[in-house]
Amino acid sequence: MPYPEIRPRRLRRSTALRRLVAETRVDPAELVVPLFVKEGLTEPRAVASLPGVLQHTRESLRKAAVAAVQAGVGGIMLFGVPATRDERGSGGADPNGILNAAIRDVVSEVGDATVVMSDLCLDEFTSHGHCGLLTPDGSVANDATLAAYAEMAVAQAEAGVHVVGPSGMMDGQVGAVRQALDAAGHRDVTILAYTAKYASAFYGPFRDAVESTLDGDRRTYQQDPANLRESLREVALDVAEGADIVMVKPALPYLDVVAAVRAAVDVPVAAYQVSGEYAMVEAAAANGWIDRERVMVETLTSIRRAGAQIILTYWAVEAAQLLRERY
Ligand code: PBG
Repeated sequence: MPYPEIRPRRLRRSTALRRLVAETRVDPAELVVPLFVKEGLTEPRAVASLPGVLQHTRESLRKAAVAAVQAGVGGIMLFGVPATRDERGSGGADPNGILNAAIRDVVSEVGDATVVMSDLCLDEFTSHGHCGLLTPDGSVANDATLAAYAEMAVAQAEAGVHVVGPSGMMDGQVGAVRQALDAAGHRDVTILAYTAKYASAFYGPFRDAVESTLDGDRRTYQQDPANLRESLREVALDVAEGADIVMVKPALPYLDVVAAVRAAVDVPVAAYQVSGEYAMVEAAAANGWIDRERVMVETLTSIRRAGAQIILTYWAVEAAQLLRERY
């Protein structure tokens, strides 16, 4: 038997060698934590399908934001859960709506120490749970919805948000939001576009977190999981309309899309490790079937390796601490 001349194992011999040659590192500064705030809540409340994730009160949200900054995360993505909803989702553009109030709270608490982002979508605010306004026949009206997003974007900018995240998958949403922000004097507000957002069953636990009342699905506006080339079309449109950062969502089941989008554009690419991805790992770990921490870091590393420079994850705060201590 000839001995092998080339031995890749030489680079795997020790922790120090493996660390030296690692091609991918996850840095806490690249992690963004989604946080939920619910109107009228007096105590933070656990979300059953997202162990470790809370619906915050306005007060506990401030504290969670400070803890996230101390952990060194790169950003906070805010979602609001209103006490009441209506057909038009008017709570989204109301300056005193829960999300806009929370933006003001968090920005006044953490200032520029991290990047404060907000979900820019109607679904948390509409009684029917869709991401847009409905026509009498019940379909989602694209262009009327754009006007609602424009109004909501300006309200969020006026509350002081650094980055808005249009997530409704309406055609033209990035351009409409950019135009509205600029016209209102908010040229510096950044747009993180949910560019390739799939009609995914992995969003299930999120709907609990925001108490969404949607029946039916979002397949007439979110993308078909079968399609990759369609994402490249979406990303070209978003960049042309002025997206500063583009995002793929979900993350782990769509790593091919992350890699293709990364190759297609030169703006930063983000990926959203969504609620169902998190819940699956937590549930398996709670059963003792997998090593929770190792799987957490492995999933984040894989998303990073596929080309996402920014990762939204419910583990952001814990992972930031863990990565600093042990990896
Ligand atoms: C829309 C929005 C959703 C998520 C983030 N923004 C829900 C949806 O599109 O149905 C899902 C996030 C997750 O599952 O973690 N406002």
